[in-house]
Amino acid sequence: MKAIILKEYGLPNLLEIGEVSKPIPDDGEVLVRIHSTSINDWDWGMVRGKPFVIRMIYGLKKPKINIPGVDISGKIEALGNKVSSFKIGDEIYCDLSECGFGGFAEYVCVPEKVLSKKPSNISFNDASALPHAGILALQGLVEKGKVKSGQSILINGAGGGVGTLGIQILKSYGLEVTGVDSDVKLDLMKSLGFDSVLDYKKVEFTENGEKYDLILDTKTNRSAFKYIRSLKKNGTYITVGGSMSRLFQILILGSFVSLFTGKRLKILSLEPNKGLDQITKLVEKGQLKPVIDGPHKFDQIPKLIQYFGEGKHLGKIVIEIVNQRKTLNDTF
Ligand SMILES: NC(=O)c1ccc[n+]([C@@H]2O[C@H](COP(=O)([O-])OP(=O)(O)OC[C@H]3O[C@@H](n4cnc5c(N)ncnc54)[C@H](OP(=O)(O)O)[C@@H]3O)[C@@H](O)[C@H]2O)c1
Repeated sequence: MKAIILKEYGLPNLLEIGEVSKPIPDDGEVLVRIHSTSINDWDWGMVRGKPFVIRMIYGLKKPKINIPGVDISGKIEALGNKVSSFKIGDEIYCDLSECGFGGFAEYVCVPEKVLSKKPSNISFNDASALPHAGILALQGLVEKGKVKSGQSILINGAGGGVGTLGIQILKSYGLEVTGVDSDVKLDLMKSLGFDSVLDYKKVEFTENGEKYDLILDTKTNRSAFKYIRSLKKNGTYITVGGSMSRLFQILILGSFVSLFTGKRLKILSLEPNKGLDQITKLVEKGQLKPVIDGPHKFDQIPKLIQYFGEGKHLGKIVIEIVNQRKTLNDTF
């Protein structure tokens, strides 16, 4: 099968497009023929081995993960022994980050416990944009953020994968939301339902006097004290990612801050796929639809990872894999 192969850390142009053996499902696993995949911050980090914590987990000098790729949608083509919840032909989607990655290929073996049935009313391309960013948004805003009606909310880095899905989740609660990102993304953000939008290159949201009940940040890059200042009484700041030194400061200060101010600073630790059935329900009710950059071609993946890293994308970058080698027997 065709795959994007990671042999050494470096820029995405070092990735190779090659042929590897088609995997065989183990007990409890299914073989998925991948229809589509999307690009995430994990891919940008995994390919470069940055931040350093990636090397601590996935190999100091050489990556132990040889085929990157987190999000997939596709069809089950074969079953391992002891698979009970899925059958051949089922249309599925999931996040592979807890089970060895491998989404940038024609096939992958996946434990059945991480799979969900693809929402019936959207395409495979749309479905592949949802698992990783959708669950970060859901766990950040709903599970950890405990959003309630009447609250004022701000999403920082709101024009990317997490923000463009997060706003739609919040709108299903009927909330007022501010989004912060660069100017090229503000029109898209307004069209998705942000009540007010701020260009981070022109306005410093921690210094404009506004305060929020909940801030969700995808790009933590300021001192924790600035975030505390932007929270209302009993407000919560949740980060899903950002600069390692800033995240460390939030980790250290978090419990002291809540003891002395009643405000909370939290770091989300993603539990992949937990809540994906809730995402499916929102999609099937018509309340959630990803914003897609693409679909792009398989061979473009190295360039697209670079494009992601440079922040040029709008919403989620999606790659359609299945039609790269179309045959007469193609059943998708
Ligand atoms: N917590 C966990 O367990 C976990 C697991 C996986 C991933 N993550 C993290 O989750 C995040 C994924 O977010 P995503 O998929 O939404 O990323 P994304 O698609 O790259 O979106 C981030 C957005 O932030 C904008 N941005 C850049 N610098 C900014 C600044 N200084 N202020 C405001 N906005 C800024 C970017 O726009 P421009 O580039 O145009 O400025 C972009 O639109 C990453 O931080 C990743 O590391 C966390």
